[in-house]
Amino acid sequence: MARKKITVVGAGNVGATTAQRLAEKEIGDVVLVDIVQDMPQGKSLDILESGPVYGYDTRITGTNGYEETKNSDIVIVTSGVARKPGMSRDDLLKINAGIVKGVVENVAKTSPNAILIIVSNPLDAMTYVAHKVSRFPKHRVMGMAGVLDAARFSAFISMELNVSVENIHAFVLGGHGDTMVPSTRYTTVAGVSVEELIPKVRLEAIVKRTRDGGAEIVNLLKTGSAFYAPSAAVVEMVEAILKDKKKILPCAALCEGEYGINGLFAGVPVKLGAKGVEQIFEIKLDTEESAALKRSADAVKTLCEQVDKLL
Ligand code: NAI
Ligand code: 2OP
Repeated sequence: MARKKITVVGAGNVGATTAQRLAEKEIGDVVLVDIVQDMPQGKSLDILESGPVYGYDTRITGTNGYEETKNSDIVIVTSGVARKPGMSRDDLLKINAGIVKGVVENVAKTSPNAILIIVSNPLDAMTYVAHKVSRFPKHRVMGMAGVLDAARFSAFISMELNVSVENIHAFVLGGHGDTMVPSTRYTTVAGVSVEELIPKVRLEAIVKRTRDGGAEIVNLLKTGSAFYAPSAAVVEMVEAILKDKKKILPCAALCEGEYGINGLFAGVPVKLGAKGVEQIFEIKLDTEESAALKRSADAVKTLCEQVDKLL
């Protein structure tokens, strides 16, 4: 069976760690692209040389161009600038829109059938850029954020209750920003809603910590943002697609009426399989959840309007 080809654009913290995790999973060959001369080549060689110790035969190539990425099955876009303390994800809009546009133009030419997973921030707006520039069908363009936000939510619940993370199903909706909507009603521990297990005041603190999860890491690192959990989240999405798992994960997908959102990418539960986003699941929201999701979608809309002026 021919090996799958996975390209990771941006060989910085998220990109290089994603490439390493993909190599270790042996689910496809990896091409790592960056504009910095020699750097992706160096990181790729380093990851390749871990193969004999770890026992993987993944081929991994570093490059500064797109020739080697030709006909990739999946392209992950992590290129761009990361947050520094005091910056919001939205502060990155202008510079990252230009970077993502340029990258996606190249990718659309060299890998016209690829599935795109966007990581660069502000996430929902950058996924909108990728869709607009690539003109790929909506099921082949998605953004990674919900899996990360849900993982943070799960980690905090696991710490609170001292139970395995494997028992927790966390549910997060909306944009990857300060207005994201972690749902306590639909978040469960071994099938039981967290609302029954954690007192309201503690739950509110956990929801707030989840919303601020990215900033918490930025403030600790001081020179960049999170990359271990983000790369793990990307790899879960890649695996769901390449193994056609039909896994239900929260991803930024193009909504066309679902949840009352039109023409925008926002975090919603989707079925991920070989075709990419195979279905958006619409679950029933109560009044408070609907209002929170609308606020989040409005924030994404404001950014996309800025994108429309830039492109
Ligand atoms: P980083 O600064 O470590 O790496 C970014 C890399 O992109 C650099 O190596 C840079 O040279 C490269 N790059 C810049 N322009 C390029 C171009 N035109 N072509 C190819 N490569 C280019 O940043 P990090 O930590 O890897 O984060 C990357 C992006 O991902 C940021 O925008 C960050 O905010 C975002 N992010 C999003 C998350 C999410 O949940 N969606 C989670 C974590 C990060
Ligand atoms: C995060 O949530 C920076 O968006 C990134 O860590």
